[in-house]
Amino acid sequence: MQKRTTVPDIMAAKGKRKLTELTAYDYPTALWVDQSGIDMALVGDSLAMVVLGHEDTLSVGMPEMIHHTRAVSRGAQRSLVIADMPFMSYQASLEQALINAGLLLKEGRAQAVKLEGGCRVAPQIRAMVDAGIPVQGHLGLTPQSSAQFGGFKVQGKTAEAAKVLIDDALALTEAGCFSIVLEAIPASIAARITEAIPIPTIGIGAGPHCDGQVLVVHDVLGLYERFTPKFVKQYAKLGDPIRQALARYREEVENGTFPGPEHTFSIDAGEMSKLDTTRGKK
Ligand code: KIV
Repeated sequence: MQKRTTVPDIMAAKGKRKLTELTAYDYPTALWVDQSGIDMALVGDSLAMVVLGHEDTLSVGMPEMIHHTRAVSRGAQRSLVIADMPFMSYQASLEQALINAGLLLKEGRAQAVKLEGGCRVAPQIRAMVDAGIPVQGHLGLTPQSSAQFGGFKVQGKTAEAAKVLIDDALALTEAGCFSIVLEAIPASIAARITEAIPIPTIGIGAGPHCDGQVLVVHDVLGLYERFTPKFVKQYAKLGDPIRQALARYREEVENGTFPGPEHTFSIDAGEMSKLDTTRGKK
């Protein structure tokens, strides 16, 4: 068995090699992510949209996140498993944030958690790190705050907003994050942040200068067909072959070609005639 990627491995990669992160939500996607040599498997709260069919990420809670994190942890043997903290699992109080982060490690078997926000969540991050829980930060277009942003909009487009992002990145570094996801911000601002902090930045719609990249695995594979953000590169369109395979199954059941002899079990002819004799006696 290969050695698991650790938080120190991720931190040590800065400036040496590009890091890779993909979401995973269940055992098979975790196996694929792991077997593809991806450094980090993120059980994102995008689960709400791409797996559970909700409109946004606000509808998942701790029970769903723990349930899916456990499944991913069973599949990912080598990738570092990071569990997203769902909306309102860390905002209300330090104590609740700490308990919920602990549950994702204790029950979900994740190695780290991720949460959204800048300076305002720095105390929660500090408390988690002090308790031995590694934290990945998330800045820019943080989907849990999309109502506040007025939708899924690119962030950091004015000098003032960019300055807030840089200050937030410094605050998260100071609070003890081991890496920060930068989502949907201008590439030049992501480059500034990447230069300014000693921990890796992981971009999603943040250009090529980040220390690594993350995408939603259903976007990469073409499995989420409702919409595709501009920053996504689709490496496959699996929806079509899946529909074709399922339609062939339906046709073959309907026309009687499935199951064939190769999918069918038989009984010895002698046993069959004994059964007929036994039944005849009754
Ligand atoms: O939930 C998620 O999938 C994420 C990634 C987009 C970074 O937070």
